Parts: sequence; C-alpha cells; structure tokens
Amino acid sequence: MVVTGAENRSRRVPLTGRRILSIRTQRPVLVTVARACTGRLHWHVCPAPVDGRFTGGPRDGGVQTHTILDSEYLFVVAREPFGQLGEIYLKDTPRYVQTSMVRVGLIGVGGIANHHKPAFERFPDRVQLGGVCDVDEAAAGEFAAAFDVDHWSDYEVFLEETDVDAVDIPLPHHLHYPVAKAALEAGKHVLVEKPFATSLAECLELVELAEERDCRLMVGQMQRFYPPYRALKEAVDRGDLGAIRHARCDALVNQEDMVPPGHWLYDGSMSGGGGIIGYSVHKLDLLRYLLGDVERVVSWEREVNDAFDDAEDYSLGLLEFESGTVADFFVTLSAGAMPYTEMFWLLGDEGAMHTLPEGTQREGYVGLPDPRINAANDPERRKTFETLTAPATDLPSENAFVNEILHFADCIESGAEPISSGRDNLGTMATIEAIYRSAANDGEATTIDDVYADAREALR
Ligand SMILES: NC(=O)c1ccc[n+]([C@@H]2O[C@H](COP(=O)([O-])OP(=O)(O)OC[C@H]3O[C@@H](n4cnc5c(N)ncnc54)[C@H](O)[C@@H]3O)[C@@H](O)[C@H]2O)c1
Repeated sequence: MVVTGAENRSRRVPLTGRRILSIRTQRPVLVTVARACTGRLHWHVCPAPVDGRFTGGPRDGGVQTHTILDSEYLFVVAREPFGQLGEIYLKDTPRYVQTSMVRVGLIGVGGIANHHKPAFERFPDRVQLGGVCDVDEAAAGEFAAAFDVDHWSDYEVFLEETDVDAVDIPLPHHLHYPVAKAALEAGKHVLVEKPFATSLAECLELVELAEERDCRLMVGQMQRFYPPYRALKEAVDRGDLGAIRHARCDALVNQEDMVPPGHWLYDGSMSGGGGIIGYSVHKLDLLRYLLGDVERVVSWEREVNDAFDDAEDYSLGLLEFESGTVADFFVTLSAGAMPYTEMFWLLGDEGAMHTLPEGTQREGYVGLPDPRINAANDPERRKTFETLTAPATDLPSENAFVNEILHFADCIESGAEPISSGRDNLGTMATIEAIYRSAANDGEATTIDDVYADAREALR
C-alpha cells in the first residue's frame, strides 16, 4: 500500500499480528509510536540494515517520538503472536509511506501448494499472492482465480512477465534447481520446498548465486516452524535435557496410500532418491536444528517394492554429530502393515523427549507427532512424560506452513538470514549425500567433509 501527501495527515496505522511496517520518507517527518495495549512493541530507526539486522531505537517503549531523517527507515515490529498490539501514529505528512507486503508468485499448485495457501488467505497484509504458474494450466487457473491473480503455464515466461518480489517453489524435486536458479537470475527471492535440490553441488551453486544477487534463499523445512518443535528447540537450547547423548528418528510410510505407482516420487530421476530425500529429510534437518552439524554417516538401503525405480524404499543408518551425539534413523516407504508413523527421541543427561510409543495416523498433513518430555531429577515425571505445548514461542500461528511463509516474508523485509536458509540447509543436504554414498559403498563410513569437497570440485 502506498499513501501519499495530504490525505495521510495524522494517519493511524493499526498493527496486528507480527506485521512489520516500513516507512520510507524523502524528508524529515515526526513519527509517534504509541503502544495501545500490553503487547511488546519493538521499534527501530536506522539508515539501513547492518549485517542483515536492524539495530538502534528505544525498545518496548510506551509512547516514543522520533524524527526520521532523509532516507531513513522506521520499522515497527510487533512481537506478540496474536491480536492487535498497538498503533503507529504518523504525526506529520510523509511524502511516501509504504506498508510492508511481500508479493509472492507460486510455481506449482499440486498437493502441498494447498498447505501453503492459508498463508496468503489469512495474512494478505503480509504476503500477497501475485501470480500462479503450473504446467497444468487448468489447475493454475483455478488456483489463481481464488485470489483474482493471473496465471501462467511456463515458468520462464512467468519469471519474465511477473513483477512479484519472490517465488515459492513447491515442484517435483528435479525441478527445484533449474527453477530456483532461473528465479534468482531474475532477481527474485526464493522459497523452495524440501528437499533443497537433488545434489549438494546444485545446492552450493544456488547458495552462491543467491548471495551474489543479494536474494533471500530459504528451504521449506516446515518442521522448524511447528510450534511444539520450536518449543523443543528452546528447551534444548536452555539445557533442559542436559547434554544430549543419543537421538533416533523413524518414518514408516506406505507411499501407495498417498500417491499411486507411476507418480514422480517413485522415479529416482525425478525424486533424487526415495525415503531419505523425500521423507527423512524432515527429521534429519530437525535433528541438525536441535543438535548441530553431522560429522559422519554409515547407512544401508534396499529397493524392495517393484514400484520404485532407482529410489530406495528402505534405508537405515547411523549419524555421528560434531558434538559427539550419536543417532540412528530408519525409513521405509513400503510399510503396508503400518499406519503412517513418524517418531523420534532425544536422550539427554538431564531429561528425555520422545514421541513414542504410538504411531499416528492423522487427517491432513501427517508426520508431526507431539514431543513429550520428562526430567531425570523427578522419578514421577520419568514415568509420565508431559506433552510439550508451545505457548511460549513467538511463531505467529499454529500452522507450520503459514509460519514458514511469514518468516520468509519477514526475512525479505529485514534482509535477515532465514532460519532454514539455503546456506544452513547445505548441512542437511550434505548429510543426505553422505547417506547415499555410504549405502552405495555397502555401509562404508562417509564424512561430511568428503562430500563437501567433492561437491565443490564438481562446481569448478
Ligand atoms: N513439507 C511437507 O511436508 C511436504 C509434503 C509433501 C510434499 N512436499 C514437497 O512439495 C513439493 C511438491 O510436492 P507435491 O506433493 O505438491 O507434488 P505434486 O506432484 O502434487 O505437485 C507438483 C506440481 O508441479 C506441477 N509441475 C510439474 N512440472 C512443472 C513445471 N515444469 N512447471 C510448473 N509446474 C510444474 C505439476 O503439474 C503439479 O501441479 C516437493 O518438493 C515435495 O517434497 C512437502
């Protein structure tokens, strides 16, 4: 939204949710920030981001006034997750006021795009859908019509013609690299669904390109944005579990329940692999988020069901983290006798977290069992784990996909590095590449350093 001139005198702009308002002026203007209720309100006045972060400004103020100088920016960030927090009063008449809003183009409107949709529906003042593209033109048209925006069927033409700031890429895995590359070359910020791409060399190239172009590049590791897992991250960082010695993650999936054979997910040339790159990528990334980087890997895999072509439907192995923590993982995509089940645990000196014993078969998106946590110093709690809820996180909604997309928009606005940036995700993709390499060599121990070195070599 752009407001100009006289009509803007003493304008009141309500702040809701975690909306960020940025005001750019071409001449000095007096601004008063008033905190209308109890929410925490942070505000900063600064000429430009420093190291991707905004600094300065009084914090948590009641009523504050400040003169914004020529070409300074005022950012007001409301931190409370819900509700109306405060108002910003523009006491004078800035010549140019722009509320922050990121316009995003969606490339791919298949299954998971429907889970991205609520971000655009529920937070249109933060992220606006600016165009839709899918080779299935009818599907693109239907999706676009719901938002009254244009649609395209060729992503190259779309990138040429659209004026969106950013693109969201929920496409089959082999298309992540070429489409993200084309989008970055067109100067768009990029959110790409997991997995980042199908090889570490491709991922490295995209990270370098994004940094060259000063574009935000984020990978859709939505489990980092699931409030109970964010609360778990906070508990781990506080040291509630003490030193974590062991972790485990399992995924028992019958892929035929979800998509029929013949779908691209069965074909390694499009999916880049099977259970590891398609499913375990979530928990491997979450373990890295909680425990830091992996140092080396051993693994084995099997392709049992004829429906799979160059894509493992069984894989298991061990990880050793740089911290010394050890972990084991297992995934199958042919678990015909099981409901969809994802589970994991962390075992620390001071406490434990697990999502066992029951698997879960949920409606809609599956795979986010609630973590339950105990403390070693309390014999009663040791027997009865408590479900970890997430009242304390500052995530804006209960929906992990919505939170992920709003975080992407925040980072575009502020210039900050996303929590699941492309650069961060190199560690996840290197782990996956090491798992595949170890399995190809009958379980030979494979280091992350070795796969990085080879990916860099491949890029030369
Ligand atoms: N975060 C999660 O929990 C989660 C869950 C499921 C899928 N995913 C990921 O989302 C991505 C998409 O998966 P999906 O299940 O939605 O797949 P899908 O097959 O349902 O949808 C893919 C869409 O891409 C379109 N498409 C194919 N080629 C195209 C091209 N060249 N240009 C434009 N559009 C094209 C197809 O027509 C289809 O509409 C994958 O990366 C997948 O791993 C994530």
